[in-house]
Amino acid sequence: MIFDTHAHYDDKQFDADREELLSELPKLGVGTIVNVGASFEGCKRVMELAARYPYVYAAVGVHPDEVGALNEETFAMLESWCHEEKVVAVGEIGLDYYWDEEPREVQKEWFVRQLDLARRVNLPVNIHSRDASEDTFQIMDEYAKGLGGIIHCYSGSKEMAAEYVKRGFHIGVGGVVTFKNGKKLKQVVEAIPLESIVLETDCPYLAPEPYRGKRNNSSYIRYVADEIARLKGITSDEVIRQTEINARKVYGLE
Ligand code: NI
Repeated sequence: MIFDTHAHYDDKQFDADREELLSELPKLGVGTIVNVGASFEGCKRVMELAARYPYVYAAVGVHPDEVGALNEETFAMLESWCHEEKVVAVGEIGLDYYWDEEPREVQKEWFVRQLDLARRVNLPVNIHSRDASEDTFQIMDEYAKGLGGIIHCYSGSKEMAAEYVKRGFHIGVGGVVTFKNGKKLKQVVEAIPLESIVLETDCPYLAPEPYRGKRNNSSYIRYVADEIARLKGITSDEVIRQTEINARKVYGLE
């Protein structure tokens, strides 16, 4: 079944029909969802959703755009959530030089501290990087040794993807791979082994073709699987089956 390694069902775009949609997803072939926290406040909602649905797990962490909310007190709270049973990762964490909502030095500081946190609590990480490939890679290379995890919504080169794979990280592939202008990601998918790929939505964002621009949800991952299957010359079922195994391994849900 489909394993969505990165979703945001706590987003307000799901307020009108969250319950209906989440209850429907298993009937549409979705087996497991990791709902990823972005803001500190959002993490509270993520914990609630994970407590409510058996097939929903949580990642808690603070996105680079939101690190202004972190201080010693909120950081300690974050750490305490990491010990909850359904929390499977620290994320999403990283660097965002596209929006540049927070000073880059501040982003880097909290990125490193959240990587350290993941190590302390023995959890994998879910990495966000936008227009910051080089700095993200440098920090990962220095501070994430031995940690597992996913480079979410991967947008770097195939060479860098290979370096991450070499270090034991998985590459998160979502709707962008179905886009006409998703050439770079298609090349990454061709270049790395299927065993190093996991599927994700980043919903409500980044819906694949033919739903590009609409609200995304985990059932649309089959279009992502179709495109990966085409690129690799295998069946969609094989993509869904293997990426589920990969995701379970990353998140320790075997
Ligand atoms: Ni996300």
